[in-house]
Parts: sequence; structure tokens; C-alpha cells
Amino acid sequence: MSAIVEVDGLRKVYKRMTGGEVVAVQGLDLTIGTPGTVHGFLGPNGSGKTTTIRCLLGLVKPSGGSTRVFGVDSRNFAQVASRVGAIVENPKMFPKFSGYKNLKLLARISNIPSSEIDRVLHVVGLSDRGGDSFESYSLGMKQRLAIAAALLKNPELLILDEPANGLDPAGIAEMRVLIRSIADEGRAVLVSSHQLAEIEQVCDEVTIISNGALVQTGSLDTIRSQAASDSVILTIDDRASAAAVLQAAGIMTSALPNPDELLVEVGEERNAEITRVLANSGRYLRGLRVERATLEAAFLNLTGSPANHPQAPNQMGHPPQVEQFPQPGYPPQHTPGNYPPPNPNPSAPPMPPTDGGH
Ligand SMILES: Nc1ncnc2c1ncn2[C@@H]1O[C@H](COP(=O)(O)OP(=O)(O)OP(=O)(O)O)[C@@H](O)[C@H]1O
Ligand SMILES: [Mg+2]
Repeated sequence: MSAIVEVDGLRKVYKRMTGGEVVAVQGLDLTIGTPGTVHGFLGPNGSGKTTTIRCLLGLVKPSGGSTRVFGVDSRNFAQVASRVGAIVENPKMFPKFSGYKNLKLLARISNIPSSEIDRVLHVVGLSDRGGDSFESYSLGMKQRLAIAAALLKNPELLILDEPANGLDPAGIAEMRVLIRSIADEGRAVLVSSHQLAEIEQVCDEVTIISNGALVQTGSLDTIRSQAASDSVILTIDDRASAAAVLQAAGIMTSALPNPDELLVEVGEERNAEITRVLANSGRYLRGLRVERATLEAAFLNLTGSPANHPQAPNQMGHPPQVEQFPQPGYPPQHTPGNYPPPNPNPSAPPMPPTDGGH
């Protein structure tokens, strides 16, 4: 049986109006989409997510390579269109019509019985607001109505391009719940986002791209554990001397902005050792917490650079997202280098740890 979505050496080069070319996708290979799973398609702004999705849906002709959906080349996408729901651009809705009436028009065009409308309104949590005009909806409700429209034909595969765009944290959380419930109905969901932290919570598998090329693909847990390590944050008095004691035991630490916190880049398996080493020297922790590796940390490690592309206005013309990619504040702002600082002169005795705050 063929995979739900296959991308083979996909390449897309756009011609610039001002001359020259933009290589949007450069040799991407992917096999994605398992029924009942959410596959995150992640990458910074301009990394080629929308272009890849447009190629999948047969909306854009690849410059090289090919894409297939349900085993059918995307050049013949019409053959599988009834099995795929997608939101790629701001769907056109009539602002004065109610959500229900907008769906009714779409259902009629596609020969879908109007009994389906109540079902999809229920799935997206708009049963109570179906009679209200589209223009009176909040952005989150508009996005959810668009998903309802994509669900009308009961698709096996749902493709959502940046469904969390422009939503506030509560709206993003609702979107995650909705995406999960759609996958739990047995559909494959492919969801693109540049907001790793927001979307990783709902994904079973992820594909990360950067500059149009594959960075990593696989299960979320595998990528996180291969590409980034968990860390432990210690809260302790006189952290400078604690850092020195830990260093002597082969455990390197970094100073965090909070003056009584140290970061240890090891998993929780060394918690007992850390506690013992400190206790043996008469030092006792006031706190110890494990920070799980995030997808953002994995992305930074895999690409060697933060994805600091400018935030473009999104497709719906709304202001840039509140949440950024990578999220501000992660990874934690360490003071440069390890803590205590490395000895600048290796032949001299080790420098005592210094700690500006103490
Ligand atoms: N129609 C087009 N004509 C010219 N260049 C284009 C066109 N569409 C996309 N590009 C360029 O291709 C590259 C990839 O764009 P794409 O929209 O696929 O990225 P994206 O990952 O979806 O970004 P975002 O997160 O901002 O939505 C960008 O450099 C973009 O400027
Ligand atoms: Mg895009």
C-alpha cells in the first residue's frame, strides 16, 4: 500500500519579478501521513512549507522531483481530491452569510448532503454559533469554520497550513484540541507551523525543514531525544561553590540569570549523583527540576542556528504571531560558556569560580 503522502526529490524554483530566482524547496524527500496521527511540518518563515503543500495539492508545478498523495501523482490531484481536505490560504467565505450558510454553499458545490453541516459544526465547536454571520466571528472561530469546511467531505487526510496563525494562546490551545480530535477520528493530519513550541504538543511525528531542505523527520520523541538533551535546574545557595564542587565531580554547570540557579545539561538519571555530591560537601539543594528537551532545542542543535527569519505577516493579513519561532526565552539565557568559566591559561591552576552576583 502506498504512503498517504510521498515527496521525492522535490525542488521548486520561483522566478523573481525583479529577475533572478528563489529556490523555495531544494531536493526534499518525505514519506508522511499515517491514519490517526498528526504530522507536524515545521520550519521557520520562508523555509518552503507552503510551497511543498501547494505542490502536494497540485496547485504549484514542481521544478523537479515529484509528490504523490494516496499514491497518485499530484499532477493528477483531482483523482484523490475527494479524500483530502486542505486549508492553504485564507478560505473565501461570504462575510454577511452565517457560518452555516457558507458551509451550505460549499456542500452544495461538492454535492455533499446538508446533514453533514451539523456534524462538522459540532466537530469544530461552532454548533451554537452556526447561525451568526461570518464577519461577526473571532479569528479563531473563522479558522475553525475553515476547518469545518475542509471536513465536509469527510477526508482521510487533512492538510492545515499554519492553522494557529494569529491566534492567542487560548485559541492555539483550542486548535490543538481540535486537531487531536480530528486525528482521533482516524484521519491523518498534516499541519504546518513555524511555531514549534505550540505545535509539538499535538504532534505524533514531525518533519523539520530549513531553507527548503529536510533537517529531520521521524517520531517526535526520537527527534527530541536524539537532537537535544534534557537538563536539570538546581536552586542552591552559594551556587559558585556548588558549581566548583560539581565540576570537580565531572558535572559541568551553567549559570542561569536567576542568581541562585544552575543549569546542568544532563538527564534526570544523574539527579541522585548531583544530590549526593553536593550533600557530601555539606551543600543542600533548595530545588531541583528537570527541563525536558524541546523541539526548538532540537532544531537549534540540528541546524546549528536559530531560525531568526523576520516575522512575515500571515496569509490572513493579521499581525505577526505573538508566539515566535524559536520562542523567546528558550534555550535559557546562560552566561557565556560553561560555569565555572574555563581556565584561559591551561598551564595555570584552575580558576576559582566567579559569580558576579555573589
Ligand atoms: N509565488 C512566489 N513567487 C516567488 N517566490 C515565492 C513564491 N511563493 C513563495 N516564494 C518564496 O519561496 C520561499 C518559501 O516560501 P514558502 O511560502 O513556501 O515558505 P513557508 O515555509 O511557508 O513560510 P511561512 O512560515 O512564512 O509561511 C520564500 O523565500 C518565498 O519568498
Ligand atoms: Mg507558509
